[in-house]
Amino acid sequence: MKKSIVVTLCTSFVMIGLVLVLKPQAVAQDPAQGQPTKAAVERSRKTIAMLDNIYKNAIVLITDKYVHDEEDFAAGSAAVLLFENVSKSGSHNVRLIDATGEPYDDENVAKDDFEKEAIKKLKAGAKQHEQVVTKKGKHHLRVVTPVPVVMKKCVMCHDHYADAKEGEPIGAISYSLPIE
Ligand code: HEC
Repeated sequence: MKKSIVVTLCTSFVMIGLVLVLKPQAVAQDPAQGQPTKAAVERSRKTIAMLDNIYKNAIVLITDKYVHDEEDFAAGSAAVLLFENVSKSGSHNVRLIDATGEPYDDENVAKDDFEKEAIKKLKAGAKQHEQVVTKKGKHHLRVVTPVPVVMKKCVMCHDHYADAKEGEPIGAISYSLPIE
């Protein structure tokens, strides 16, 4: 009888020990702390592709229809202002940056390692550069897409774009979107 009590007690201690040992692993597997699912990343990638298409069409449309000389309000300026306001609204972060080393405004440049690496990759011909990051326990998809010299008019204000090789990006759009 006594022996069985000892066995039961020992078994209980082993069980409690196991629970304590396993607990940290259970936390590590919490979905909020692990990697996001492929499907969730793909959804964010598609949303960014949609935004990218809208923004780039808007930049081209504004340049085509409204910008006639150097004094006009540039699509680049419109994009910088639009992106600042959109980023403040909180749904995603977006910035227009230079890829030539000669930006109009020194603010419009790759700022962190990810953006600097992205510019290198895009200039080497990559279609886009991306990374999943975790900020305050939340996953975000960061993507940088290229901006080529789409129209001759671009050179009106950015003289040096004329030196860009065929298809080489002169700028880029940098996105960060929560993965949900
Ligand atoms: C009317 C002059 C003008 C034209 C035309 C123009 N831009 Fe710009 N662009 C600017 C100005 C001014 C800025 C700086 C905006 C700011 O920071 O507020 C700028 C900023 C940019 C930037 C961000 C990097 C930097 O140099 O500051 C990119 C990329 C860019 N323009 C691409 C283009 C493309 C592509 C076209 C053609 C579709 C184009 N621009 C046409 C004036 C122009």
